[in-house]
Amino acid sequence: MVAGLSLPRIVRVGRGAVEELGDVVAGLGLSRPLLVTDAFLVGTGAAERVTATLVRAGLSPRLFSGTVPDPTTDSLTAGLEALHGHRADSVIGFGGGSPMDSAKALALLGVQGGRMRDYKAPRVNHGPALPVIAVPTTAGSGSEATQVTVITDSGTDEKMLCLGPAFQPVAAVVDADLTLSMPPRLTADTGVDALTHAVEAYVSRKANAFSDGLALTAIATIGRHLRRVYADGSDAAAREAMMLAATQAGMAFSNSSVALVHGMSRPIGAHFHVAHGLSNAMLFPAVTAFSVAAAPGRYADCARALGAASATDAEGAAAAKLVDALHELCHDLAVPTPRAHGIDPAAWARLTPLMAEQALGSGSPANNPVVPTAEQIQELYARIYA
Ligand SMILES: [Fe+2]
Repeated sequence: MVAGLSLPRIVRVGRGAVEELGDVVAGLGLSRPLLVTDAFLVGTGAAERVTATLVRAGLSPRLFSGTVPDPTTDSLTAGLEALHGHRADSVIGFGGGSPMDSAKALALLGVQGGRMRDYKAPRVNHGPALPVIAVPTTAGSGSEATQVTVITDSGTDEKMLCLGPAFQPVAAVVDADLTLSMPPRLTADTGVDALTHAVEAYVSRKANAFSDGLALTAIATIGRHLRRVYADGSDAAAREAMMLAATQAGMAFSNSSVALVHGMSRPIGAHFHVAHGLSNAMLFPAVTAFSVAAAPGRYADCARALGAASATDAEGAAAAKLVDALHELCHDLAVPTPRAHGIDPAAWARLTPLMAEQALGSGSPANNPVVPTAEQIQELYARIYA
């Protein structure tokens, strides 16, 4: 089998790396970046500090801080105006998954026009698009390393998965110091997102030897450090480990795929505005239990990497231990059920058929070890509601 791999051309990793952002952008021959971020990072002063590093490198940046969590097609309109108004030659995505995903969408729409719906999966987008430089401030989405963006259609509330090399950042600047101030809830949710990326990349039907290595390394690192950063956000060594693992997990799934957890998670986020990592966490143990029998060896590898099973455990037993370990992790990270999160049972039941249809439509469930029917997805949604 031939694996088509895509990675950022330049990656700067390490505490303090963001100070080199200006040099990275200038080194690419770019001079007019649109710095895409959100109001929170303007409020903390982080956006201003990043702007200063760009100006020091001789660049002419313009700030656009109008991105929203779970970016919508409507939210891109003002960004496109800023992009064209500035005659930007590049886009910097600075923030969590949402600003980075917004930057990728703007980079494509700014050149090709049209509507985001035109670019959604299963279409593979090859470009052209403006070069994207990604600077994550959470250790989770991995968007800095992926050829994926997720944009919600404002008209239908569908979280559209859009993919292809056109969305691959040309450079990623990965600085764990930017994550030190994340509160515990965000730390947990983004960390579980990264773990889900790694496990799904490894068990995916699209897994390959390249993505496998990155996925197992990320699983092992997250197993050792996620509880540590949740307990003590100022643990700089653990933050640094989580940051690298999130980027590696992003590289893993971008060169393999995500699977059923993500397929089912996006509709929960779109309809009930649950944070992406949290809706993954709500699903992760149950979806894993549903899937293990079809690929016990792969899940056993994940269990051993995570530290949940030993080398001497038989495949089936090790795979079962992964399910137990995920239940335990969600408990330790105070992951609520959808009911405990305050989602109305009637709305959940009413939207379940549509969510199942949207989950299947994204294509992600087709990469799962067990390819589910719409009915099985509906049963899983019912099971996790609790
Ligand atoms: Fe994710």
